[in-house]
Amino acid sequence: MTDAPRTAPTGFRRGVRIGAARQRPCTVVVCRGCCCGNARKYPGTDHVWQLDRLEAAAAASGGTLSVRTSDCLGPCDQANVIVVQPSSAGRLAGGKATWIGFAMDDDCTDELLDWVTAGGPGVAAPPPTLELQFVKPPREARPAKAARARR
Ligand code: FES
Repeated sequence: MTDAPRTAPTGFRRGVRIGAARQRPCTVVVCRGCCCGNARKYPGTDHVWQLDRLEAAAAASGGTLSVRTSDCLGPCDQANVIVVQPSSAGRLAGGKATWIGFAMDDDCTDELLDWVTAGGPGVAAPPPTLELQFVKPPREARPAKAARARR
């Protein structure tokens, strides 16, 4: 065994992203849990069409946009819930995951598509009317544990 000092690999700089994290696309997470996407609860919305449109945009994006579905994300009373996660470039520019509630109609889907195909959080400004549908993530919407204990 040698007692040679351990050194950091050459060329490594703090904050430099490598591999998949360097090129992560803007990702749209579409809730399809118990309430979101449920045609019995929300019969006035074509939930399949909404997901088809988002997936078609991702397929046409050349890898800059990704769409996936999720089980219940939490705020069922704000269904349909969609979370837009920033791309790596968006995250570096300060973009944060953005929660959108009541994403039911075609106008909302149109605006969402405009935003995410332009780059999404941190890269492009969201349409003002879509911003009206931004909701707090469940963790932020809940009162802090300490505050609940004081009640
Ligand atoms: S089913 Fe979407 S938030 Fe619960």
